Parts: sequence; C-alpha cells; structure tokens
Amino acid sequence: MRTYKIAAIPGDGIGKEVISAGLEALAVLSECSGEFQLNFEHFDWGSERYKSRGAFMPANGTEQLESFDAILFGAVGAPDVPDHLSLWGLRLAICQPLDQYANVRPARILPGIGSPLRNATAQNLDWVIVRENTEGEYSGQGGRSHRGLPEEVATEVSVFTRNGIERIMRFAFALARSRPRKLLTVVTKSNAQRHAMVLWDEIAAQVAADFPDVAWDKMLVDAMTVRMTMQPETIDTVVATNLHADILSDLAAALAGSIGIAPTANINPERRFPSMFEPIHGSAFDITGKGVANPIGTFWSAVMMLDHLGEPKAAASLMQAIEQVTADPAFHTPDLGGTATTSSVTDAVVDAIRRPLVRRFDRTALDRCARSSP
Ligand code: IPM
Ligand code: MG
Repeated sequence: MRTYKIAAIPGDGIGKEVISAGLEALAVLSECSGEFQLNFEHFDWGSERYKSRGAFMPANGTEQLESFDAILFGAVGAPDVPDHLSLWGLRLAICQPLDQYANVRPARILPGIGSPLRNATAQNLDWVIVRENTEGEYSGQGGRSHRGLPEEVATEVSVFTRNGIERIMRFAFALARSRPRKLLTVVTKSNAQRHAMVLWDEIAAQVAADFPDVAWDKMLVDAMTVRMTMQPETIDTVVATNLHADILSDLAAALAGSIGIAPTANINPERRFPSMFEPIHGSAFDITGKGVANPIGTFWSAVMMLDHLGEPKAAASLMQAIEQVTADPAFHTPDLGGTATTSSVTDAVVDAIRRPLVRRFDRTALDRCARSSP
C-alpha cells in the first residue's frame, strides 16, 4: 500500500472548516481506492498561536514539515492581527524556505457555475496561471526609516534573479506543453519597468527557444486584464511575476465564478521539499463559524495534491465528484448565490466519490469506505 504523510495546517478563520471537509473527502477517497493511504498530522499554527505564544509557527517549523510528502493549508489572517504579520509569519515563512517557487492557479468554469462574463463557458475559459512564488515584489527586501517624521522613507524592493526567472519560465513552458493547446502568455510590464521586466522578457525568449512546439506571446499586465475579460478564449497558460499573478489570479477566480472555488498549488518542482496546496480564498472572518464556507476550493486543491503525489486516478475521481456536485445548484454555497452549507456540499462530494462503487456493486470497496472520519 502506498502511504503518504500529509501535514494539515488549517490556520485561521474558515481555514479550519474547509480543511476538515477536505480531510474527510480525502479519507473516504483513499479508503475507497484501497490502493493508498494518507496519514494526516495536524498543526495548530496560525494567528491564535501568535497571540498566545508570539509566533505563528515554531522556530523549527519548516524543518518539521520537511519529512512530509505534502502540506494541505487552509488560510491565515485574523481581524486583530496585521495582515503583513500573518502572511510573512506563516504562509511565506513556509513557501520561501521550502522553495515552492511555482505557484499554480487553475481557473475554469465548473459545471453549474455561472461566470459574470456574458459569453464565457467551460469551453472557452480554461486557464492555468503560473505565479513566480519566491522573489520579485514579494522578496521581502526594503525597510522603513525616520518613522513618523516628515522625512520618513519606505522602500519595497523587487528582486529578480536570472535563476529565479529562468526556472519559473521553464516550469511554465513545460506546463503549457503538457496542455492540449500548447499556448503560453508571458505577462510583463517592461514598458515601464525597464530593468527587471526587460530581463524577464529576455529570459522568456531564451527559454522559448527550447520549447519550439509551444506557441507563446507577451502581454503587458494592464492589457492582460482587458484580454482576460474580453477575449478569454485566446488564453491558456499564463506566467507572471509574484504580484502581477496575485492580481490576475483574483480576476481569473472571479471570472470563473467564485473565489470560493479556486485552488492553488505551491510547488517545489525538484521535490527537494514538500509542496503545499491551499484554497485561494483566505480566512474570511465575516463567515467564519457559520458553516457556509465553500469547501470546493479545498477539494480542488486536494485534487492538485493527489496529482502531485502521483495518484492521478484518485485525483480524477475527486475532480469528477466535484463537478457532479457543482452541477447541482442545491449544493451551491452563498458565495455562489445558493444556500448550501459546508457539510451538505461535503456529504454530496463523499456520496459522489462512492457512487461509481455503488453502480459497480463493489461491496468490498464500499465496506472499506463506509462513512468514516479522519
Ligand atoms: C494570495 C493572497 C496572498 C498573497 C495574501 C493573503 C497576502 O492574496 O495567495 O493570492 O498576496 O499572496
Ligand atoms: Mg491574492
């Protein structure tokens, strides 16, 4: 039996609710398959820990994570903790040392979900955004001096390295090549940012030479927002800097129907370190504790995790279960305009995972994955 060690970090807000839903679905999925086992270990890292003990995670936190095969992350952020502390204290404190430099964000209109774009359909809006995840505008360089005085100064320095750009370009071209359309858009802002973004463009062109079968084009980030809105069908795979892709991926999630659905994978492609999978939506304190958080973003992130672990069959059956459930408006949570709850959606996904076994009268498998909690 293939066994994987998964670190579960629910974090703050609705992170706890969606991760427990995700673990439930994953447990049923692995039991039904009978081929692999997921051993979860829970970590109570997050803003509560910060408030009581002064740090979001232990000093040796990333070392603790190194022995895991993957990390499933909920969200971080609390109303009474400044966002830049929680982000740098937990999420970036994991992504950067574990060198998860490729952040992959698919956006697709799932069955039953409406797009705010009049003409967008599942056929013409199917994108993957690759976000550079360790440097650029999020490199953490800069500082503040002369605090409170009129001459106060703050710098936030973007850092781009040849290595950092080249590896994300290679990753993005390879991902584009693996998709049917073999089409990559390199997002830039080299008209205004004449140093780093020009280097970005040059390296894109150099890497492109190694991928002659991938068609690629270049797009200024501002114009890219227009293209995503007006001509979604002309886009397939996208690569952009840390900040540009942060912004474009929110737009993508909204155009695909809801930020509650969007998944993300923070990948260390060389597999020297575990990769981390999380829904995009964040801690959402306005709905925390109400039981209405959409767990689909976490389920879809779990699909990406299973694919990364090398369990494509389980990944495909979870994705199929997700799509069956989103197709039915009775299972739409309030972010999608419905009245479903986290647990009703989770139950429906679990039922959909088991349905093919019922159809096949696979008694042994059904007995094995009778409803159980992780
Ligand atoms: C994201 C989020 C984070 C980011 C926030 C929570 C700081 O927006 O993952 O896209 O900007 O990276
Ligand atoms: Mg964002």
